[in-house]
Amino acid sequence: MKVLNVNLKTKKYDILIEKGIIKNVGMEIKKIYDGVKIAVITDQNIYSLYGNILKDSLLNYGFQPNFVIVDPGEKSKSINVLENVYSKLIEFNITRGDMIITFGGGVVGDLGGFAASTYLRGIDYVQIPTSLLAQIDSSIGGKVAVNIKQGKNLVGSFYQPKKVFIDSNLLNTLPEEFIKDGLGEVIKYACISSLDLYELLLNITSKEELFHNIDKIILDCCNIKKEIIEQDELDTGIRMILNFGHTLGHAIETYYNYEKYTHGEAVALGMYYITQKSEALGYTELGTSNKIKKLLNNFNIDYSFPNVNMDYINKTICKDKKNISGNINLILLKKIGEAFVDQMPIKNIYNFLQ
Ligand SMILES: NC(=O)c1ccc[n+]([C@@H]2O[C@H](COP(=O)([O-])OP(=O)(O)OC[C@H]3O[C@@H](n4cnc5c(N)ncnc54)[C@H](O)[C@@H]3O)[C@@H](O)[C@H]2O)c1
Ligand SMILES: [Zn+2]
Repeated sequence: MKVLNVNLKTKKYDILIEKGIIKNVGMEIKKIYDGVKIAVITDQNIYSLYGNILKDSLLNYGFQPNFVIVDPGEKSKSINVLENVYSKLIEFNITRGDMIITFGGGVVGDLGGFAASTYLRGIDYVQIPTSLLAQIDSSIGGKVAVNIKQGKNLVGSFYQPKKVFIDSNLLNTLPEEFIKDGLGEVIKYACISSLDLYELLLNITSKEELFHNIDKIILDCCNIKKEIIEQDELDTGIRMILNFGHTLGHAIETYYNYEKYTHGEAVALGMYYITQKSEALGYTELGTSNKIKKLLNNFNIDYSFPNVNMDYINKTICKDKKNISGNINLILLKKIGEAFVDQMPIKNIYNFLQ
């Protein structure tokens, strides 16, 4: 088992990475929780596939689990569904000393984590991420949120879990499109922080090889994120480099109304395009965008920039909630493995992107 200790000013907790760990979750939770009631927030897909395994593991250690099952997909990250989750927690008589487990992809993690952070002013929770994206990104760092009609993740908080359990065996059932989606973020970590990870990924040529190396990849990504959030838990400085490719990626996602590209694919496009631009302007070592392209090619991720209306993209970027005092914090690479934040006045973004 690989264990990562996350040391934040407000909280310390472990991320445990091991194939098959889902069967031992009961035993592991016993070490951190001496109550009996547990509410497991999950989605229907995960419940059908793995609900019984988790339930048995909890029952074996004397816990009383109750499952809150939401519909799969982004639509569940809403205020309405959140309210239903609260109702279920009340129905199960979950009190402040009890425990929540979020068991699913990023949707369940964000929704369940936000429920945990607000229900009775906050109760302990544990994350068991099941998608690649959740295992390398969303389950770490404590950002939890729901969407409102004005935009994604506009209502949320920072709320760290008590533990994170990562079982990469669960990825065997993850549909291909979500593997690709997660790989977009894996490539992001390599670009911003690790030439070693970049090289490891470049040598992977099949799904078998990817799965053979998956625990090492997950560990590397979690480690990078852990080190970044330890320096900047509340996302006011260095943590921003995790947004590499995201400013443009988000604009492309919204342009296509979240239908044409997955998040990871849009981020991939954003990383490649921004780096082409920053390279041409001399901010980035020559050849870097080509290296990104090679990796995207390797995983069959589309890198051809779509025929979007650049005025729309520009306007979307300019009203991004992350802009501060007329500036955009644009994340650029010096080279593969090294990122920096460039504060660019909003008025310059249009020229930069041309
Ligand atoms: N909190 C953060 O720091 C953070 C970071 C990145 C993304 N996010 C959020 O994460 C969400 C996206 O997460 P996601 O891509 O995991 O989406 P998701 O939770 O919708 O999962 C994707 C799909 O895969 C299914 N699935 C998950 N694990 C499976 C498995 N092991 N086997 C079979 N099917 C499985 C789910 O049921 C769902 O249909 C977005 O809402 C995004 O805003 C949060
Ligand atoms: Zn992302």
